[in-house]
Amino acid sequence: MDIRVIRASDIPHVQTANITNLPENYFCKYYLYHAQSWPQLSYVAVDVSRPPKSPYDPPKIVGYVLAKMEEDPADGIQHGHITSLSVMRTHRRLGLAEKLMRQSQRAMAETFGAHYVSLHVRVSNMAALKLYRDTLGFEVEKTESKYYADGEDAFSMRMDLSSLR
Ligand code: ACO
Repeated sequence: MDIRVIRASDIPHVQTANITNLPENYFCKYYLYHAQSWPQLSYVAVDVSRPPKSPYDPPKIVGYVLAKMEEDPADGIQHGHITSLSVMRTHRRLGLAEKLMRQSQRAMAETFGAHYVSLHVRVSNMAALKLYRDTLGFEVEKTESKYYADGEDAFSMRMDLSSLR
């Protein structure tokens, strides 16, 4: 498995993964905005176990993290934000999400001087909560009522990045 920075040509495949795995979906231009504004922060996991049959074969993207820096932070503190993370069912529990997250977090701290990273997650999303809280060390900052379009609450989580700066 190859973990590398997202390219503009990956975006349709990342969009497919996003639509397959999550109900929160975005227009192509929102992915491009991330990739062009903060090219160091968004990564894809590519299955390279089978070589492409031709140079036109699309990469087999099995996971991604889409991340950005908060442009006008309300608290005045420079920080990153995870917009979206997902891994295809066929490739889960292989450590890919953890690797994608760690790469992005490192770049936030080293390249942009981020003090912390934030994200939102559904209160019912046990797999993601376990990853964020137990594996990576995020903490719940607050609960945001009816954050999602279907009325579910979100945990607003954050993780200090000072050890990476
Ligand atoms: N149940 C319990 N714990 C889990 C689970 C699970 N299903 N999945 C991951 N974890 C925890 C475990 O502690 C795991 O370590 P272990 O395997 O050694 O026990 C650790 O997280 C690391 O797991 P990874 O293998 O890195 O996680 P994976 O690559 O499988 O991806 C993810 C996890 C992204 C949550 C995946 O299940 C997924 O794509 N789910 C659907 C989309 C989603 O919910 N995305 C997050 C939304 S929030 C946001 O985008 C900001």
